[in-house]
Amino acid sequence: MRRYSVALIKGDGIGPEIIDEAVKVLDAVSVKEGFEIAYKEALLGGAAIDVTGDPIPEETIRIAKECDAVLFGAIGGPKWDDLPRDKRPETGLLKLRKALEVFANLRPVTVYDELVNASTLKPEVIQGTDLVVVRELIGGIYFGQPRAYEGEKAYNTMVYTKDEVRRIAKVAFDIAMKRKKKVTSVDKANVLEVSQLWRDTVNEVAADFPEVALEHMYVDNAAMQLVRDPKQFDVILTGNIFGDILSDEASMLSGSIGLLPSASVGKEHGLYEPIHGSAPDIAGQGIANPIATIASAAMMLRYQFGEEKAADRIDEAIKRVLKEGYRTKDLASFDAKEVVTTSEMGSLIAQYASEV
Ligand code: IPM
Ligand code: MG
Repeated sequence: MRRYSVALIKGDGIGPEIIDEAVKVLDAVSVKEGFEIAYKEALLGGAAIDVTGDPIPEETIRIAKECDAVLFGAIGGPKWDDLPRDKRPETGLLKLRKALEVFANLRPVTVYDELVNASTLKPEVIQGTDLVVVRELIGGIYFGQPRAYEGEKAYNTMVYTKDEVRRIAKVAFDIAMKRKKKVTSVDKANVLEVSQLWRDTVNEVAADFPEVALEHMYVDNAAMQLVRDPKQFDVILTGNIFGDILSDEASMLSGSIGLLPSASVGKEHGLYEPIHGSAPDIAGQGIANPIATIASAAMMLRYQFGEEKAADRIDEAIKRVLKEGYRTKDLASFDAKEVVTTSEMGSLIAQYASEV
């Protein structure tokens, strides 16, 4: 029997609800495909602050490192917004990413045919969109030193080394080789030195991938092109903050931010999480869309464990529920046959994923 261990970090807001559904689906497919997952829960964000005073207790880092992968819900909420920066929930997540050295954040954007009308953009613009944002996750302005808030003045530093750019660029080109063989590297090289270094380094890496078409695009133009003609993109390679912004923008192509999964990987560890936040305004009501988290669990099976069949089962089940018209409230107005709760959606996907 193949056995895997997964650190479960539910977090805050809708985090616990959506993680429960992902576990439901994982349990269903593991039975079908003959493997076993042992879960270990760990605290992060507000949930950790409430118990320990620290957004990321040592024990959480230890559990996350010991397990074969981490499945994470979401963190944050108004309750913890006024805390000093180093005590905020978000700091916990950033420290976790850093501790696991998951430098590559992969955010695929799929537009499900069944939902082309769910986007605020015209169906003909988005139909057939299939892109992935490859975001550098543990460098750039999020982590650069010096940084400070000093009364009348505050500053952060956007810094990248060539090594950091090289390793994320390689990931992007490797992924492009398995897709449509196109990389769009996004920067602000017309203004920033750090972007010039980014661009020069990406060009160097590109020399090892002669089959891949590389283009460079300024981030402001990329933001515009994403809504003008998203089909032009295959792999978008970019730094931490540009990737943060562009991936939220790109998520709306699919109709709901509640649909998009992500994988953060490094040499050793993998952290899987929906790209959306903790949505404290709808927490506990059973209306959150669990699909992004369930799809993140599928990415974990595929990338971390090599359980392709189980991952395919989940991805197909998600397509099927959408095709059959089941919608959580966020997508209720888009050809819904039946509006279902968070838990009903999880059960349907678990059921479909175990059929055949
Ligand atoms: C994301 C989030 C995080 C980020 C926050 C919660 C720190 O927006 O995963 O995109 O900025 O990376
Ligand atoms: Mg974000």
